[in-house]
Amino acid sequence: MLVIIKDSYDDLSRQTAAMVAERIRKKPDLVLGLATGVTPLGLYKELIRLYNEEGLSFARVTTFNLDEYIGLPRTHPQSYFHFMQENFFRHIDIEPRALHIPDGMAPDIDAQCEWYEQQIARHGGIDVQILGIGANGHIAFNEPGSSLGSRTRIKTLTDQTVEDNSRFFKTAEEVPKTAITMGIGTIMEAREVFLLARGTAKAKAVRAAIEGPITAMVPASIIQMHRKAYVLLDRDAASQLTHVFRG
Ligand code: GLP
Repeated sequence: MLVIIKDSYDDLSRQTAAMVAERIRKKPDLVLGLATGVTPLGLYKELIRLYNEEGLSFARVTTFNLDEYIGLPRTHPQSYFHFMQENFFRHIDIEPRALHIPDGMAPDIDAQCEWYEQQIARHGGIDVQILGIGANGHIAFNEPGSSLGSRTRIKTLTDQTVEDNSRFFKTAEEVPKTAITMGIGTIMEAREVFLLARGTAKAKAVRAAIEGPITAMVPASIIQMHRKAYVLLDRDAASQLTHVFRG
């Protein structure tokens, strides 16, 4: 696990985008796992700039998003499908059929989860998975207590996550209480994972994930077991780490 601490959120976004771009240039048909939330927005902005100004092409890239709310149609402004279209996909040259996001309106959610796993396998697995982290240590929607070997499935959101995500909705009541999420086992099979965090609100979760014991109560702590994990932080998110070498 390599922990990279940058001075600012912009530096963090630029660094992550440069790492993603390097991999796409090496392997144009990269399978890229994507995350929602405000944290990766700077990364998406920078990747869009690289597409516009530096000829980075996504034409052969395939993407898999981590999760989606159950019960929100794709047109809903808070659906992750809509979020990805608005903040990333519609600005680049990616093929619409190469985008994968679980369908939270699928009539058979279990079949949808199974299908999602099959699609990931059919594309040869995920090369690079982008991750954020919840204030309670969750990754994707794998809440504390999730099995560390779990696969794509339905999860009930904790009160804290509903509360945290209510900032995007008019009221907490409107936040869906369930979601489809890639499992921790699914995420761990990605060849590389890039976990991003910014701000003091994430500092405690970051410390628990990186320096604490590996436990299902802090799902992000499983990253300690990954063969090729990068943790990219701004100074605030890194502020509670005790093992930091300042050169
Ligand atoms: C949601 C998403 C996670 C994301 C987390 C943190 O719960 N399911 O994938 O990492 O929010 O979001 P933010 O980056 O907005 O703090």
